Amino acid sequence: MGENIAGATTRKVTIKAFRFNAETDYLPSYKSYTMEVGKDELILDLMNRIKWEHDGSFSYRRSCRHGICGACAIKVNGKATLACKQNAIELLDLFDNEITLEPSSTKRAIKDMIIDKSDFWDKHAAVKPYVVSDVDPRPESESKQSIAEFNNFLDSDLCIQCGACHYSCPALEANSDFLGPAAFAAAYRFTVDPRDEAGKERLQTTFDAGAGVWDCVKCYECAEACPKEINPIEKIGKLHNMQFEQGIAKSNVATRHAEGFLRGMKKSGYLDEADIVTYSEGYLGMYKHLTTAFKMMKAGKIHWQDGVPFIDSMPKIKNLSEVQKLIEIAQTNKL
Ligand code: SF4
Ligand code: SF4
Ligand code: FES
Repeated sequence: MGENIAGATTRKVTIKAFRFNAETDYLPSYKSYTMEVGKDELILDLMNRIKWEHDGSFSYRRSCRHGICGACAIKVNGKATLACKQNAIELLDLFDNEITLEPSSTKRAIKDMIIDKSDFWDKHAAVKPYVVSDVDPRPESESKQSIAEFNNFLDSDLCIQCGACHYSCPALEANSDFLGPAAFAAAYRFTVDPRDEAGKERLQTTFDAGAGVWDCVKCYECAEACPKEINPIEKIGKLHNMQFEQGIAKSNVATRHAEGFLRGMKKSGYLDEADIVTYSEGYLGMYKHLTTAFKMMKAGKIHWQDGVPFIDSMPKIKNLSEVQKLIEIAQTNKL
């Protein structure tokens, strides 16, 4: 512990930072920087101090310093962080004084914290993130919206395109065609805007196999990562609904999986894993999952008779009629 000029208490810590220059380095390295950190300093202040007090070549993006431009998104100990919003001491406490600064995606690093975000922008552009409308160049009155219509997209409108959700998404790491949570949040935002006319096109783009919302594994990492609390996974759920409602969703393994889940809930009130597989993939498709099925059987998650035609072995939940009523109230979709 020490004191800075203003007399406030500071803490001496060593910060590790990812260093890499795509033009000169074959592999990245991690360098350590020791400094006194005050209670009001942000992660962005620490990055400034690395650059100003230790190594002028340290590179990162920042602009607004107020959580508005989205430029300073990085990862601290693997956790998506908006550097200009995050108090440093809070994270140092959380991680026992050991923090490592890394770019949002190490494999896309160009220089230190700066990454090539072109995949993010390409996917963002793919969903037409703007109001598509044949606007009268000389309108006689303004285009009005009700408060309810406005509230429908208000939170998704706060997206600052920082990419924190995009580069935290495991589905995107595994499948580079996947559009990703930020693009879906943008697709939702403009599709529910009553002035927009490209909703069907966006719903089709976000339905397409491999790229669309049905490849989301619902891990909630995007909701966790978003510094603006936009909750992209919630928008993904709404896109699912809109695709059903507007007849864009077609019967395939993914949509039948969702329907199968609902069917099981209605029948027994329990998640019937075996029934979901047979419903969405058919009895032949079921054989692909035999190894997993044996493992689940061993763990007591399913029983041998589950999924066998004409044997309904699933017990029923005590308050099944309540569950069925809730489903009826909530249900808007039919395949
Ligand atoms: S919930 Fe879906 S979109 Fe969000 S991070 Fe997980 S896989 Fe990606
Ligand atoms: S949805 Fe949130 S995390 Fe994703 S880009 Fe927008 S502001 Fe960033
Ligand atoms: S510098 Fe703009 S969001 Fe951090």
